[in-house]
Amino acid sequence: MARIKHSPGLTLQFQSVLITAVALMLWIQTLDAQSCNGLSHHFYYKSCPKAQAIIKSMVEDAVKKEARIAASLLRLHFHDCFVKGCDASLLLDDNASFTGEKTAIPNKNSLRGFEVVDKIKSNLEKACPGVVSCADILAVAARDSVAISGGPFWKVLLGRRDSRSASKSGANEDLPAPNSTHQTLETKFKLQGLNVVDLVALSGAHTIGLARCASFKQRLYNQTGNKPDQTLDTTYLKQLRTVCPQTGTDNNQTRPFDPVSPTKFDVNYYKNVVAGKGLLNSDEILYSTKGSRTAGFVKYYTTNTHAFFKQFAASMIKMGNISPLTGFHGEIRKNCRRIN
Ligand code: HEM
Repeated sequence: MARIKHSPGLTLQFQSVLITAVALMLWIQTLDAQSCNGLSHHFYYKSCPKAQAIIKSMVEDAVKKEARIAASLLRLHFHDCFVKGCDASLLLDDNASFTGEKTAIPNKNSLRGFEVVDKIKSNLEKACPGVVSCADILAVAARDSVAISGGPFWKVLLGRRDSRSASKSGANEDLPAPNSTHQTLETKFKLQGLNVVDLVALSGAHTIGLARCASFKQRLYNQTGNKPDQTLDTTYLKQLRTVCPQTGTDNNQTRPFDPVSPTKFDVNYYKNVVAGKGLLNSDEILYSTKGSRTAGFVKYYTTNTHAFFKQFAASMIKMGNISPLTGFHGEIRKNCRRIN
């Protein structure tokens, strides 16, 4: 039988190819852990080492003054990322060449926390001028808001740059509405690269914060014809009707998403939804829609804080990766409300 002879040159060549391949794989793995879409955990390591500490301490101060601001800051990041990606387009005021996103239907008379972002930005500009983007401020402030409220902590990928334009029409089209159907919610999340698991986990943000009557009144009086939403717990329905009578007070009166622990980031949101006490229609249908994949996850999170926190953190990182501007795209705004 013929024996194959290995030449020493070939073996050496094979070994060095193998070593290079392994090194390449390890390098790719490291890159993967540290960066995504050009973002990385250590983006400001040299250019502004105190960036995250400054943001954290300012979010802490703001939350001490008013606990709700944690919810408001978290929501800003969501409303930024869903429109043209996480590029701080949301923060731009109207100017001569475009109307900003702040007056779009989902945002008007509703979004809060812009002044806190301004303060953080002006402190960062003092510490490291022209370095930290407004888009990254939103991502870090959202994470800190959740952690301060008792929720999970995750490492935020950094390096987003700020857009030089905004899209009011995008804000009207891309953000889900409280009366969106289950299918629309799924579709709007899918368009951003988010799946039903992300939808259920991220909706868990409604464990903190408040909503205006305008956002859930339809359910109380005329969900179908002139009837209230049948999935609403009847005692809860009565309470909500007292706060939100059929006429007036749409923007002035608010209700907490979670009346039990409105400032604590926990699984009560899911418990409420399962009990027919989800505040928005978009909350309740995650559970009540027959045959939906979301119902099982809602139920699962009611008793699994660890699983919810883990998935929430993962989904927030995913949301934070939506179409960031990096490299030479966009700019680092000096003032989050204006392009440079
Ligand atoms: C699933 C689709 C969603 C819909 C339809 C929706 C809709 C709403 C509405 C209507 C409000 C009340 C606004 C008002 O009345 O002024 C609200 C508040 C809030 N939303 Fe969502 N939301 C959704 C998903 C999310 C996500 C993904 C997050 C964050 C990850 C989030 C975070 C919040 C927070 C924290 C508040 C309270 C804000 C405050 O108290 O200032 N929401 N949302």
